[in-house]
Order: sequence, then C-alpha cells, then structure tokens
Amino acid sequence: MTKPDFEKEKERAALHAVGMVSDGMWVGLGSGSTIAYAVRALGERVACGLDIQAVPTSRKTRELAASVGIPLRDLPDATHLDLTIDGADECDPRLDLIKGGGGALLHEKIVASASRRLVIIVDSRKPVPRLLHAFPLPVEVIPLAIGVVSFRLRALGAGVTLRRLPDGTPFVTDEGNRILDLTFVEPPEPTELARSLEAIPGLVEHGLFLGMTSTLVIGRNSGADVEI
Ligand code: 5RP
Repeated sequence: MTKPDFEKEKERAALHAVGMVSDGMWVGLGSGSTIAYAVRALGERVACGLDIQAVPTSRKTRELAASVGIPLRDLPDATHLDLTIDGADECDPRLDLIKGGGGALLHEKIVASASRRLVIIVDSRKPVPRLLHAFPLPVEVIPLAIGVVSFRLRALGAGVTLRRLPDGTPFVTDEGNRILDLTFVEPPEPTELARSLEAIPGLVEHGLFLGMTSTLVIGRNSGADVEI
C-alpha cells in the first residue's frame, strides 16, 4: 500500500471546496496549512475572472490572499457571508469540530457563524470517532483573566497549558489574547463542556465548533470524500 501524501490530500480537499465558490459571493477564508491551498486556488480563479469578496480570519490568511490578488474585505464590513472554507484539527461523525490549532479560533468562529454554509476541508488524519480524546482543545482568554480562568478550567477536570512560541514567550492571538490548550483524562461530552466554557467570564471563545459544519470534504489519495 502506498503511504498517504497528506499535502496532496489537503490540496484535493481544497480544490473541491473552491469549486463551490461562484460569482458575487462573499467568502470567508479560514486559517491554516490546508486553507493555504484553497486560497491559492481561489486566487487562480479570481485571475480568470471570478468576482468575489473575501473575508480572511487571520493576518496570515490576509497576507496570502492579498498576494494572490483576491479582493478583500475587513470583518467589520461583513454582515453575513455566503460560504466559508476552513480547516479543522479534529472532526467527528456528526461533523462537529475542534479548531484553533493555529490560534485563529475567535475570528474563525465569528466568520463561520455569519456564513450560510461552512465547508470544512481536511486530510485523512483529521476524522476521529470522538472529539477531545486526542487533540487538545484551544480556548482564547484575555491576558488579565489567565489565572482565574485556569482555576475554573482545572475545576472542570481539564489539564491546562499556556500555549507558547518556540522561544518560550506566550503565543498572542490577533486580538492580543492568550491561548490555553486543554486536555482531559476523562473527556466530557462536547455540548456540556461548551456550555460550561461559555459561562466563564474572561474566556473569550473556545475551539468547539458544534452543529456549524454544512459540508466536510476529506482529501484522499485519490479524490475527495464529501459528507453533508
Ligand atoms: C486555525 C485552525 C486551523 O483550521 C486548524 O488548526 C487546521 O490547520 P491545518 O490545516 O494546518 O491542519 O483552526 O486556528
């Protein structure tokens, strides 16, 4: 059996999703290495005359989209979007997700929630039977609340790690916040956990995207599987 080429899988999923974009759409652009393939492919379609407005969810995506000529709008200019393409760190059979591996979950969730359709593109490593058993759950926290929020999270049974850059300094989000990565020895039910997290003041957003996905595109060695 040939070893899967995960970069090819990402590209295949991205090309499938970009095929869903049509003239006149406002398109949300997520963040991460899989999305980079979609942004470049969308740039090629724009160069051939596709007429869209795009709202990026991170500084990195903005820079890449600008470099390939995609017309950009700022998030404050957006009221609703037609379609958002984004990646994920984990996805389960219900198409619920963990996102935020790249630290852009706040903007990603705002854009996803304002979109008529959320198309998630992943390689074949991302589908899992249950969320919260492997990939740590990122939460975005305002800096002055790190202590009180961490205390509340530990009381919920979470192991809490402040995300840091390779040089040891804390990772800072595009909104100037911090990311805590949560692990669970006994993973809770995602819906209940989401409710508990949303009740903690100072915790700005969490990386559970529940009931938001319209279409999941899984890149495979040959082609792509689509789940709706
Ligand atoms: C960033 C995200 C990304 O979509 C997620 O981390 C997947 O990234 P990649 O495509 O590089 O695996 O949620 O906040």
